[in-house]
This record gives sequence, C-alpha cells and structure tokens, in this order.
Amino acid sequence: MTNDNLQPIILGIESSCDDTSAAIVRGTHLLSSAIASQKVHELWGGVVPELASRAHQQNIVPVVDAAFKQANIRKEDVNAIAFTRGPGLMGSLLVGTSFAKSMAIALNVPLIEVNHMQGHILANFVDEKGDEKKPEFPFLCLTVSGGHTQIVRVDGYFSMTVLGQTIDDAAGEAFDKIGKVLSLPYPAGPHIDAKAKVGNKDAFVFSRPDVKGLDFSFSGLKTNVLYFIEKKVRENPDFIAENMDDICASVQYTIIDILLRKLKKAIKETGITSVAIAGGVSANSGLRCALTEMAEKQHLTLHLPSLKFTTDNAAMIAVTGYFKYLKNDFTDATVMASARYSL
Ligand code: KG4
Ligand code: ZN
Repeated sequence: MTNDNLQPIILGIESSCDDTSAAIVRGTHLLSSAIASQKVHELWGGVVPELASRAHQQNIVPVVDAAFKQANIRKEDVNAIAFTRGPGLMGSLLVGTSFAKSMAIALNVPLIEVNHMQGHILANFVDEKGDEKKPEFPFLCLTVSGGHTQIVRVDGYFSMTVLGQTIDDAAGEAFDKIGKVLSLPYPAGPHIDAKAKVGNKDAFVFSRPDVKGLDFSFSGLKTNVLYFIEKKVRENPDFIAENMDDICASVQYTIIDILLRKLKKAIKETGITSVAIAGGVSANSGLRCALTEMAEKQHLTLHLPSLKFTTDNAAMIAVTGYFKYLKNDFTDATVMASARYSL
C-alpha cells in the first residue's frame, strides 16, 4: 500500500513501568503521542510498583483522550488496539491490558498484544516526517533500558534472536543505582549524561567485568563504584560534590565501554555490519557519540532512533501493532498480562 490514507489506524497503549502512554499511527506514520510520566517515584529513588499502578489508573483515560485529540480522529476510525502485554510490572501491565481489552470490545475492533522489548526495537521504524531512513534486515540491535540489556539479531520484524544479555543488572539500572549513591534524582541516567558532558572520563578507573560470550554484567561495576565512593568520602566528606562531573564521566565511559566491547564482538561473530540501538539508555549522548565514531571507523551502517522513541513510549507499541495487523496476528480478550514475557 503506498497511499497513506489506505493504511490502518492503530491505537497503541503502553503501561509496563512508570509511564502511561498512548499513541496513534496510520501505517508507520505517527499521528499522535501522549505520555504522562509519574513524578511520585522520585521521592523514593526508584519505581514503587503499587504507586505506579494507581497512577496508571488515574492517567490512562486522559492520556488516551489526549492521543485522540492530537491525532484529530474519532474513536470509531481506529482499526485495531495494540497494548504492551509484558515484560514489566504486573500491576502496571494490568491497567493497560484491561483498558485495551475493554476498548477493543466496545469499539468491536481487533486486539493486538505487543512484547515491550520487540516494541523498543521496532521504534526504529516509526515515521514522523515520512522520509526517515529505516534499518535494513538483518541488523544487530543493542537494546539498553532500565530493565534489559540485550544484543539482538534482527532478521525481520518478528524474527529476532537474543545473542547476549545481562546476567544481573541492566545498563539503565547501573546508571540509576550509581546515581542513587551520588544522591542524584531518579532516574539518574539523564543526570549522569548531562554531568558527564563537562567531566573528565579518565579521572577515575572502574572495573570491567569478564563475562563470557556476548553476555553482560553490571552489578560488579555498581559495587566497585559504591566502595570507591565510600572510601573517598571517609577521607574527604566533600568528595562527591567536588568531583561529581568527573565521577559521572568516568562511570558513563565505563558503561559505554562494556556495551561497545560486546557489540564489536557480536559484529565480528555474525558479520552483520548494520547496527541500531533501542531503549532508554540509547538516549545517552555519550553512547550515541561513541557509536557514531565506531561506525565511521569500522564502516558500519548505524541507525540512531529519534530521542523521543528511546525511553518508554506508545508509538513503538502502535507501530509494532501495525506490523502485526498486516499479518492478521490478533489476540482475543482472554489474553493475560505477562510480567516475564521474553523476546
Ligand atoms: O526504556 P526505558 O524508558 O524503560 C524501561 O523499559 O526500562 O528506560 C529507562 C532507563 C532508566 O534506567 C534511565 O536512567 C535510562 O533509561 N536513561 C538514560 C538516559 N535517558 C534515560 N540513561 C543514560 N543516559 C540517558 N540520557
Ligand atoms: Zn522500556
């Protein structure tokens, strides 16, 4: 289908963690995207599951309404409703799942379940202007979020193989936990990113794990930084304040180095030279710069998603829903949310 007006209209709903989001696409073209982030967790330094599901319940109706208003379409114009089935927090997933089911029944349209991790990867296919360059198959995707760190071989929209993943903490979790040690607000990733820009990455050296194959580990780095900071603060109580930018730059550099070493290994092993990134940590400016440099040196084709499609959003769920719609891959209303839904 080439005429955009003939393409199906899909409403996507995302509620797997602490962002309530709704988006509408026509084909792969984004018509609207609304998101309500939950500030309540900042107080606790991490997501509190019970508070997250309560906030989703409050946010979901206004967020879906906002998506329809922005897209300037009627509810009856929607051809299908896609929702995040998992992985994620059970209480949070239940809100989006139940809402999507009820709305699909009310509008008498098909229901499409989406795997959140697949959604992150397919976020690379959302169009805003229509002339965006898309990754070509096969490509390797480094998916780095608050809950996951994976290198995925992508042979088609629904042909994905996890080649390696974290055996403990995710990359985003490392940013957030180290940020907590530094008393930065949650989520700490963007704060560390901003401070790292003016810090010296070589100021402090932290450990790199020795993990076999294409798997990752970040818990050792977190402990290494924690002990280092504790020791330094005993010697000088103002150590963190005096060295904040340098600590952030050194931590960020280490995380990026761990990620890129494995990515290079995956490129070498598979012979695939087309690379994309996905997930919240793919918003990191240092990671984007390092990947751009690596792509130039190694003649890779690199695809960096637009920043707003890196962290959790419903555009990625709607576009995945669109690709499933083309395959008539629908689900019925007995579908259950799945906290540990693997790729
Ligand atoms: O994909 P996402 O929104 O949610 C999950 O599915 O987990 O990712 C959230 C993670 C958080 O750990 C957050 O600190 C991290 O992405 N993040 C960043 C940046 N922006 C978000 N990490 C490093 N640099 C950033 N600029
Ligand atoms: Zn996510």
